[in-house]
Amino acid sequence: MKKVKYWLVALCCSLSLTALADKSSVKGDSSYTPSPGQAGKDVIWLPTGTELVSLMLKTANVTSKDLVYDLGAGDGKIAIAAAKEFGAKAVGIEFNPDMAAFAQRNAIQSGVGHLVNIIRGDIFVEDFSQATVVTLYLLPDLNMQLRPTILKMKPGTRVVSHAFSMGDWEADKEIETDAKAYYWVVPANVAGEWSLDGIELKNATLTLAQRFQKIGGNIKIGNKTQPILNSHLEGKNLRFSYLDLNNNLITVRAEVNGSEFKGEDKGGYSQGLVLGKRR
Ligand SMILES: C[S@@+](CC[C@H](N)C(=O)[O-])C[C@H]1O[C@@H](n2cnc3c(N)ncnc32)[C@H](O)[C@@H]1O
Repeated sequence: MKKVKYWLVALCCSLSLTALADKSSVKGDSSYTPSPGQAGKDVIWLPTGTELVSLMLKTANVTSKDLVYDLGAGDGKIAIAAAKEFGAKAVGIEFNPDMAAFAQRNAIQSGVGHLVNIIRGDIFVEDFSQATVVTLYLLPDLNMQLRPTILKMKPGTRVVSHAFSMGDWEADKEIETDAKAYYWVVPANVAGEWSLDGIELKNATLTLAQRFQKIGGNIKIGNKTQPILNSHLEGKNLRFSYLDLNNNLITVRAEVNGSEFKGEDKGGYSQGLVLGKRR
């Protein structure tokens, strides 16, 4: 009876590991040991320093609710840290099959095999659109090739890149230790004309221009048009201020979802809901 029980447990464990390793190559040569600087498909393997890995994930506010994708996973250290230190689910995409298997074994040995899946694949082919956090340690031109895909991800997706920036998409934060990393939040598309209605903002028209997360524009209330002030966009969270008819500074905070605008204004004598639609 004991033997049957043991056999059932072993079968269950091996089935769940097989499911986890579905797309990776856990079966690779178990004696494989990578060397820093070795060639990779588009970039060599060099691991990000342990301190910087933690700092990158901390800057991205990674929690157990996140799905972190490391593009070009190497030995899996970013995916493993996301799971081990922050309780996140993590996927690493690694082109080198031996390296992918090595990374998956590292995850299992670190006790987070149930949270980490290393996919043997190409970062330019695999779908990572479900990620809530994307990490990179690639090269400037690879970042630029990935940029259009990243900018189409869900607004609010956090992106951290070790060493390399994203051209003229300025970082929201720069992380500096002995090495450098950059942090961005994928901005919602807010450019265009919006009809807004609220207690203060009766039949107002908000016109926004946008370059990545930087926004500016004006607001027309009645016959008066004025530039918006202190504008800020982080993911789908938009904030700006304007002066009401009594010169009170009113601040609008809203969430933008596609063509829906929902928020509230605060300042002056009133505070209330502001609803909007794209024109
Ligand atoms: C600089 S290392 C970074 C490893 C890990 N992300 C880290 O920061 O410690 C880049 C990794 O990307 C892998 N790689 C290169 N081109 C790739 C591609 N097109 N698709 C997937 N992985 C790739 C390399 O094999 C290497 O392991």
